[in-house]
Amino acid sequence: MNLNKKIIGPTLMVIFGGSGDLAKRKLIPALYNLYLEGWLPEKFALIGSGRTEFTQEQYCEFLKEGVEKYSRSGIESEKWEAFKTKVSYLAGGAFDEELYTRMDAILCGFEDEWQEKNVQRIFYLSVAPFLMEPIASHLGKSRVCANIEQSRLVIEKPFGKDLDSAKELNRKLLDFFSEDQLYRIDHYLGKEPVQNLLAFRFANSLFEPLWNRNYIDHVEITVGEDIGIGDRGGYYNGSGALRDMVQNHLLQVLCMVAMEAPINFEAREIRDKKSEVLRAVRPLAVEEVENFVVRGQYGYAPGINSYREEEGVPDDSSTETFVAWALHIDNWRWHGVPFYMRTGKRMPRKTSYISIQFKSVPIAEFQGTGTVPVHPNRIFIQIQPDPEIRLLFYAKKPGLKMELKPVDMRFEYDETYDSPTPEAYETLLLDAMAGNAALYMRADQVELAWQLMMPILTHWQNKPLDEQLLYTPGSWGPRAAQELLYKSGRSWHSPIS
Ligand code: BG6
Repeated sequence: MNLNKKIIGPTLMVIFGGSGDLAKRKLIPALYNLYLEGWLPEKFALIGSGRTEFTQEQYCEFLKEGVEKYSRSGIESEKWEAFKTKVSYLAGGAFDEELYTRMDAILCGFEDEWQEKNVQRIFYLSVAPFLMEPIASHLGKSRVCANIEQSRLVIEKPFGKDLDSAKELNRKLLDFFSEDQLYRIDHYLGKEPVQNLLAFRFANSLFEPLWNRNYIDHVEITVGEDIGIGDRGGYYNGSGALRDMVQNHLLQVLCMVAMEAPINFEAREIRDKKSEVLRAVRPLAVEEVENFVVRGQYGYAPGINSYREEEGVPDDSSTETFVAWALHIDNWRWHGVPFYMRTGKRMPRKTSYISIQFKSVPIAEFQGTGTVPVHPNRIFIQIQPDPEIRLLFYAKKPGLKMELKPVDMRFEYDETYDSPTPEAYETLLLDAMAGNAALYMRADQVELAWQLMMPILTHWQNKPLDEQLLYTPGSWGPRAAQELLYKSGRSWHSPIS
């Protein structure tokens, strides 16, 4: 976002967790695509670091498999061979001080070879939470980050597991680094349609005047996945959908929908405006959680494991794989407008969308004309799988009768643009290299988000999951999630196909 390729100087990037799944599926394919499209600086080197013992050749083969399978552009043999020359591997344990000495020697080697003194060093921490702090402190204390101005840390989620641990991690990171050097990632913010919310809202004078409590009845944010938890049982059971999706991705999308207009598009300004939203979300008391938040867990269906049958999950687990939350934002713009958010595994399909429902017309004059009932207007913003924005309104069907039909104005990315849509990680990695933190989370945002989670987590911790909250795979969660909206006379929108 807001980038100019010329400003990215010589760059050294180290990926901790370089032999891991994220590196293979997302990070390397993203870097490879940036390389193909000419975004990487000429002087660029990538060092993967992990515990697995790889030779240089084995490591490149491991990465190649990932690119072949997951890159949006596939592999071109010649280009891959050239990209490969930029990659090296460093095996070692994160607690091992000597790893950092060897790392520094490698990085200095590139600087000598390039005859560059002021090379930026980016350290991507794609590791288990317990390794974040030790890696950061080793980096902070060693020579690797001696050039403090030129060192940055990109930190993968999960950022803590509750408010205290997130505060503690922030505190420890800030012992060694300044906030400007910390890039806490939320890959939803790198998704093109999520960034486009800024353009849609603030580059068009058409929508913004309506974007408030006077015209909007409610907002829905759905992030559904058709898959289960796969082989991530060990991680997921200690996390659950609230920590895995709501604390970060859903709240960040909410911020983009609900924030006030920024004065400019600088990182600080955008992050200030997003923090304001989180500060205005009405906090729940532990005793009221049940009235506003519903959890669920996928049960059994023929040929599909129930959550409790998944590998690494105890057979009496209460971990939620589904969350629905009716939340309120107590500020002038949004007071009285409910925001309904839901996310879950084993939903009917993979889809993420935002639905903005406007208020009904004051008098339904057209009713009684034998035509369809007039439903309120709606803006439907699909983030994935096929990004699009649709405006749903009514028109008179041509003919001698006054017959109304709902119509649909549609902007589809694929139809409109020839250029391919970059993956979220491409945008975010490039922003980290360019020193643009607008799409990254600041310490206060992470903590505010955790603060909102705490009553919910506390309530659930003391209460095993009720059997009625088990839902059938392929459904939109437990019945209670539908009832959450029925009580105000509303219902979830089905995704539009
Ligand atoms: C990750 C979660 O952050 O986001 C996963 O840990 C989830 O559980 C994934 O599947 C969803 O991301 P996307 O981009 O596929 O919607």
